[in-house]
Amino acid sequence: MTAKDVQGGIACCQSSSQFALPELSLNPVKSQYILRDEDCYALWDKYAMPENIRNHSKLVAHIAAILAELVLQRHIPLNPDDVRASALLHDLGKWYSLQYGGAHAQLGAAWVVAETRNYAVAQGVMHHVYWPWSIKEDSSVCSLPILVLYADKRARHDTCVTLDQRFEDLFVRYGRTEQSKENIRLSYKQCKAIEQALIHVLGWESLDAYTFDSRWLVNGA
Ligand SMILES: [Fe+2]
Repeated sequence: MTAKDVQGGIACCQSSSQFALPELSLNPVKSQYILRDEDCYALWDKYAMPENIRNHSKLVAHIAAILAELVLQRHIPLNPDDVRASALLHDLGKWYSLQYGGAHAQLGAAWVVAETRNYAVAQGVMHHVYWPWSIKEDSSVCSLPILVLYADKRARHDTCVTLDQRFEDLFVRYGRTEQSKENIRLSYKQCKAIEQALIHVLGWESLDAYTFDSRWLVNGA
């Protein structure tokens, strides 16, 4: 995620209150294709994704898949294959945008639509930086794009960390101006709200310190 992306997402959020953006359907057009891991890896190759972004994406997919499992255990409808594929592809546009500019989420989502016609997977790619609608403490927080967004914010490169640790790193790397610092703060606030909502809906005592491999972060709760 780049500061520019956060800025873009928040600008979108701000415009939503100004122009009364309609509520987004959390059940987008039914997927036309089930994307297997191999399909996603082929797209990584096609779009020349570097090794470090592949490793990061694998961790995000791992976290998102476990969250999807927890959601399904609560009998909340969700397509786990789409969640995993979306997480694997969430940074598809990152390498290109680092070199040539542009918002990697929008770029990656456009590529995913063009390549797969799977709009659910593309929706997760599009919104993995910032969710431009409100976060509610109900089952809507268990939707694909919000799970991918949260999983991405628990993965600093290829290491599972707390939200605080992830945003400390973002603040250092991208908090270059007052505006970018404020945007990162807003994004952090949203992720904390997502985490609280997930804890509430999934019935967990804590999620922040969980490493998603049955261990707990040493400095966590
Ligand atoms: Fe990411």
